[in-house]
Amino acid sequence: MSSICLIGFMGCGKTTIGEAISKVLDKECIDLDAYIVHKQNRSIKELFEAKGEAYFRQLETYYLKEIIHNKQSIISTGGGVVVTKENREVLHNQQTFYLKYPFSTLYSRIKGDESRPLAIASYEVLEKRYKDRLDFYKEACKYEIACEGKYINDIVKEIINKINI
Ligand code: S3P
Repeated sequence: MSSICLIGFMGCGKTTIGEAISKVLDKECIDLDAYIVHKQNRSIKELFEAKGEAYFRQLETYYLKEIIHNKQSIISTGGGVVVTKENREVLHNQQTFYLKYPFSTLYSRIKGDESRPLAIASYEVLEKRYKDRLDFYKEACKYEIACEGKYINDIVKEIINKINI
């Protein structure tokens, strides 16, 4: 059986929704960013500052595969996990849900968040990053969930109804 993976741009609620699904299904939820931080003993910000985005992407691929290989679980990912083709292929073989929001909603949630190194950028720069990734999210997912204007509980129900446990 495959894992349930959540993907989407920063601020779309992957961690919150992953935890909510985990409670309903009584199954472990692993947050890929938190897993990387734990394994590397450094914050995401420190990893970006010390070794840059490219190095972070290598860690992301390595640990994504490790989690998927070791156990069947619910996995909330970081927003940039889809930028590598290798990760998109790994994700597409799981039950992967893309949590979709318009950029303006996401921007209002993440702007100026210093724990997210890439969120410290102008509206235009972040919007370009969002647009550049749209096709990648679509390619990596099995299901697209339009989340704008919905309550978390309803998004969770929508996902659970599609899951093959
Ligand atoms: C990133 C998103 C972050 C984190 C890192 C890079 C990105 O996760 O992995 O800061 O490239 O979009 P969230 O989507 O949970 O903020």
